[in-house]
Amino acid sequence: MKGPSLSRNLAAEQRAFLGRDRARWGDHLARVRGFMGEALEGADGARPVLIMGAGSGLEVPWGLAPARAVGWDADPWSRLRTALRHRRFPPWVFQDLTGGMDALGAVAWRTARQPWSGRLRATPVATRRLAGLIGSLDPSPGPLRAWIEQHRPGVILAANVMGQFGVGAQRMVEGAFKGRHPWTLDPDLPDPLEEALQAWTARAVRAWIRALLDSGADLWLVHDRGVIFGNEAVTLGPMEHEWIAQLRGAGPLEASDPLCGVEPLDEIMDRTLTHHLRWIWPVAPGQTHIMEAMRIRPPGTFLSHNQNSAFRKGAYG
Ligand SMILES: C[S@@+](CC[C@H](N)C(=O)[O-])C[C@H]1O[C@@H](n2cnc3c(N)ncnc32)[C@H](O)[C@@H]1O
Repeated sequence: MKGPSLSRNLAAEQRAFLGRDRARWGDHLARVRGFMGEALEGADGARPVLIMGAGSGLEVPWGLAPARAVGWDADPWSRLRTALRHRRFPPWVFQDLTGGMDALGAVAWRTARQPWSGRLRATPVATRRLAGLIGSLDPSPGPLRAWIEQHRPGVILAANVMGQFGVGAQRMVEGAFKGRHPWTLDPDLPDPLEEALQAWTARAVRAWIRALLDSGADLWLVHDRGVIFGNEAVTLGPMEHEWIAQLRGAGPLEASDPLCGVEPLDEIMDRTLTHHLRWIWPVAPGQTHIMEAMRIRPPGTFLSHNQNSAFRKGAYG
C-alpha cells in the first residue's frame, strides 16, 4: 500500500519550479543570491553552516560557501542538481524539516479509506473526520533539533523553504485522496479541512522558527511572505510591520499568506534583527510573490547605538 510521500511530492514540485519561464526572475535572483552570499562570505569557517531548502542551488551561491557548509532538502534530486550546477558535492540531509509530514500523510491516508476494504470513503465524511484529527497533530522538527544539537552550526540559512511547508502539507493530504478533490469548492462555504491544515502549518512554522532561535546560530532567512494572484500590477510601499500594508495596486488584490497567519517578526522576540528586506518576485503570469529576507543575530548580540539607529531608519532595508 503506497501512501503519500514528501520526497516524491517535492521532486515533482522542483521539476515544475525549474521548468518555469525565468525571464522575469533576474531581480529576485540577484537579491536572494546577494543576501545569502553575504551570509556565506561572513561565516566563520571553523563551524558548520547549514543551508535549508537548498534545492538545486539556483538561489544559493555555493561558490561562496565555506568548506563546512551542509545542504538540507528532502527532494531526493536536490544534491545531485546542486553538484551539477555548482561542481561541488556538499554533505546533505534529506529529511523533512517540519518533522511532521509523515504523520500528517499517514493520518490522511488512513482517514481517507475504509479500514476493512481499503477503499476510499465518501469524501465529505472523510474530510470532516480528517479535519478533526489534524487538529490533534503537533508537528515538531525533531530531526532538525537533533542535527543542530550534534553539529552546532554557527550560521543557518533558510533558502526559501518556510513558505513551502503549507504547500507540502496540502500535497500530502491531496495524495491521500488519490485524485479526489478533498477541498470545499464553493469559496463562500467554510472548509474545515483547509482551516485545520492552515492551523497545522502555522504550528509547524512556529515550531521550526523556535528550533532555529534555540540553536543560538546567526540566522539568515529568506521566504515567501505573501502571494498575489491575478495580473493586477503590484508594487511595495515603505516597510511596514504587516507585509499586506505595504501592497500598492490599482485595483483590489487577491493575496494569500503562505505562513498561515504566523508573523516571523513577532516570533523573534528580543533577538536583534539587522537586515529586513522585502521585494517583489514575478514568479509566473498571474502569480507574484512578496519575498522577505531577515538576519536574526544570536542571543546577546550587541549593536552600537549607530548600528541600531541606522537599522531603525531602514538603512538596511
Ligand atoms: C522554493 S524551493 C527553494 C529553491 C532553492 N533555494 C534553490 O536555490 O534552488 C524550496 C525547497 O525546499 C524544499 N522543501 C520544501 N519543504 C521541505 C521540507 N518539509 N523538508 C525539507 N525540504 C523541503 C524543496 O524540496 C525545495 O527544494
